[in-house]
Amino acid sequence: MTTRILSGIRPTGHIHLGNYLGAICSWVDMLNTIDECFFCIVDQHALTTAEDSKDLRKNTLTIAAAYIASGIDPVKNHIFIQSHVPYHTELAWYFNCITPMGWLSRMTQFKDKANKNKDHTMTGLFVYPALMAADILAYKATHVPVGEDQKQHVELTRDIAHAFNNYVDKQIFPLPEPIIKKETARIMSLRDGLKKMSKSDPSDYSRIHLLDDNETIALKIRKAKTDAEPISNLVSDLESRPEAKNLLNLYAIFTQNSMEKVLEEFEGKLFSEIKSKLSDATINHMEPIRLQMIKLLNDESTLIQHLKKGANAANSLVEPHMQEIRHSLNLLLCL
Ligand code: TRP
Repeated sequence: MTTRILSGIRPTGHIHLGNYLGAICSWVDMLNTIDECFFCIVDQHALTTAEDSKDLRKNTLTIAAAYIASGIDPVKNHIFIQSHVPYHTELAWYFNCITPMGWLSRMTQFKDKANKNKDHTMTGLFVYPALMAADILAYKATHVPVGEDQKQHVELTRDIAHAFNNYVDKQIFPLPEPIIKKETARIMSLRDGLKKMSKSDPSDYSRIHLLDDNETIALKIRKAKTDAEPISNLVSDLESRPEAKNLLNLYAIFTQNSMEKVLEEFEGKLFSEIKSKLSDATINHMEPIRLQMIKLLNDESTLIQHLKKGANAANSLVEPHMQEIRHSLNLLLCL
């Protein structure tokens, strides 16, 4: 069986280290083990939160540049923009018609983001998971690499696939498997080790952006919250020290070492030394990616060509699936 992954990032705000290490890097690790890879920039999802739709065009190009600069080859893989494949929203409509409101109202992301006043909560936010299911199922993707926070949406996607297959009495959709990334890929805020690094945190110092220059990276790491204890050599001691754990985890990732090795290196050391080494390791890893992103963003027409190529491949794959889906729904087809 052909393995096919589909995943996506919402082009909202600045893309940061959490998105890079948590999502993009885990995709890059998979490229050689999966037959077909589709990476989407889900711009229509960004429209569900008004504050994110302001710089949509710029943010969309930045995510595309980040995908490519991080090592996703746009020739071998398919990088595309959701709104360039109109089938997603068509399929989402069909899913809206077979998805009970009860399922959608149980989604924790909706509950977190919905305004208490229903007159200020938009329908798009509510049906967001049906669009996400369409993103995945339009491709008949077999695997969906996502963070822990998106597991519920992928489970709902499986429920929708199953409900649709039952509704039309035909096995149209395979049930996609979530691939949930490792705990170490969960990058926390530099200001609060218990919160995920996030674009919505009001403090810029809570996260490192992919486009931050070296001085800014060093400054943010210098200002990162820590505690007053020197480091011990026990991994278990870090459980009660979330900020220390996060910084050491980042160092372990960038130096490709285990946590045990990192603790051996830093045992008894002060945070000033750890931060300075972490800063060097981060800059070492991120600088070439940033320079490549800037290069790509300065040549917008080439970047857009890559996205067009991706959209063509996406549309060609999905088109026959849509005919099959429309047919199963008894819509009259013009052949
Ligand atoms: N909901 C995902 C997030 O917030 C983004 C997303 C939209 C997605 N469609 C998808 C992820 C399809 C994987 C597959 O992170």
